[in-house]
Amino acid sequence: MERIGAHSHIRGLGLDEQLNPAHIGQGLVGQLEARKAAGLLVKMIQSGKLAGRAVLIAGQPGTGKTALAMAMAQALGPDTPFTKITASEVFSLGMSKTEALTQALRRSIGVKIHEETDIIEGEVVELQIDRPLSSQSSEITHSGKLTLKTTEMETVYDLGVKMIKSLQKEKVTSGDVITIDKATGKITKLGRSFARSRDFDATGSNIRFVQTPDGELQRRKEVVHVVSIHEIDVINSRQQGFLALFSGDTGEIKSEVREQIDIKVAEWREEGKAELVPGVLFIDEVHMLDIECFSFINKAIESDLAPILIMASNRGITNIRGTKYKAPHGLPLDLLDRLLIVTTKPYSEKEVDEILRIRCEEEDIAVTKSARALLTRIGMETSLRYAMYLITSSALVCAKRSGTEVDVEDIKRTYALFSDVKRSTQTLAEFHGEYMFSAIEDTQRTDSQQQADSDPMQAVVPAES
Ligand SMILES: Nc1ncnc2c1ncn2[C@@H]1O[C@H](COP(=O)(O)OP(=O)(O)O)[C@@H](O)[C@H]1O
Ligand SMILES: [Mg+2]
Repeated sequence: MERIGAHSHIRGLGLDEQLNPAHIGQGLVGQLEARKAAGLLVKMIQSGKLAGRAVLIAGQPGTGKTALAMAMAQALGPDTPFTKITASEVFSLGMSKTEALTQALRRSIGVKIHEETDIIEGEVVELQIDRPLSSQSSEITHSGKLTLKTTEMETVYDLGVKMIKSLQKEKVTSGDVITIDKATGKITKLGRSFARSRDFDATGSNIRFVQTPDGELQRRKEVVHVVSIHEIDVINSRQQGFLALFSGDTGEIKSEVREQIDIKVAEWREEGKAELVPGVLFIDEVHMLDIECFSFINKAIESDLAPILIMASNRGITNIRGTKYKAPHGLPLDLLDRLLIVTTKPYSEKEVDEILRIRCEEEDIAVTKSARALLTRIGMETSLRYAMYLITSSALVCAKRSGTEVDVEDIKRTYALFSDVKRSTQTLAEFHGEYMFSAIEDTQRTDSQQQADSDPMQAVVPAES
């Protein structure tokens, strides 16, 4: 079963050829200007015109900033590397902040490596394996002959022990169309020849029929791999080895290793063996980074090995972490200077209703009309996210009473079970003396405007509370 994530209903930006957004498209609702801007960014990224630039998605919590970034990743497609981190991850990994950022940046740059290999490709006419007369040893076969053909030629190859083994392992028989990699001896079965399809009456549905290849038996074939620079780093750092790629436990990578890789990649590019594919690094909740990270990023995006940086922040004018200065979105001015800013706006009631409907469909949950109306009201008055959680939990309550459709009663019950932030804050205000570290008196003394900017809770709680 596929897990349903918070953004799994989003399949793209929902734009047409002219980048005009449909009111609802590919799981996204409304937010038309931001979506159009994101579409333009995707085009710029794909044409390589956005290198060394950065984008900030700014807007209140729950206005779809992360959703928009995920939609961009979908629109860019699988060939463009897209790395997503949350700013706080930078502080929690077992490595320095700059190392964590460097790894994230290098994960977001792909290297497309072109390799030419010599292959032999043809249809097996005959495979003849000689069995030695004295079959005492475990080596049963010693020699053999393989006849391969294309539509134009036919050749007999002498087989060594190794080839015979791999032919037997792949269960190659006459009528198969195969490829042999000359350098490694690797055999790949492409399918069975159409010409011979009548010879077999018991053909399973999993047999693929292919044409007999034409032209020469031997040819050069280009294979393309895309790996990220980070993967090349890990494989080449001696302490780590490629196994670290699977464990994810890469530790710090020495700068000498990286320098060498950069030189090597530059060489490959000059020789036309490799191309760079600048991808996207998305840093969510970017105001959680501190001034050291920001100055590092500022420098990093200037390098010619830089991905496109997309950040999201829900802060207004607030402290830059690690300093006593305030700045818009909590970002230093020199970084702000390079940014293209996309803003997301709060949703209308109709849009909230449509997003909730899409989520009900995504989670495969039937909801009555009046229950949906209630959910929408809750979504407007508390938060979109809270309403989304209620869908899932009310469905469980509904299943418990063996209902088939979530109704108003189910939602009321879960609404009573789980507080939203507003009610939770009210409870806190009433009973704060009984909690540990009751700090509410301290914060009340500070200037309320300043508090609204710097306190994350304030941003979430509607103004009247
Ligand atoms: N325009 C939209 N269309 C569909 N779903 C949306 C839209 N905006 C937000 N959502 C969904 O609402 C939830 C909250 O949005 P999110 O992107 O996490 O907000 P933010 O990152 O701005 O705080 C997510 O599950 C998201 O997928
Ligand atoms: Mg978010």
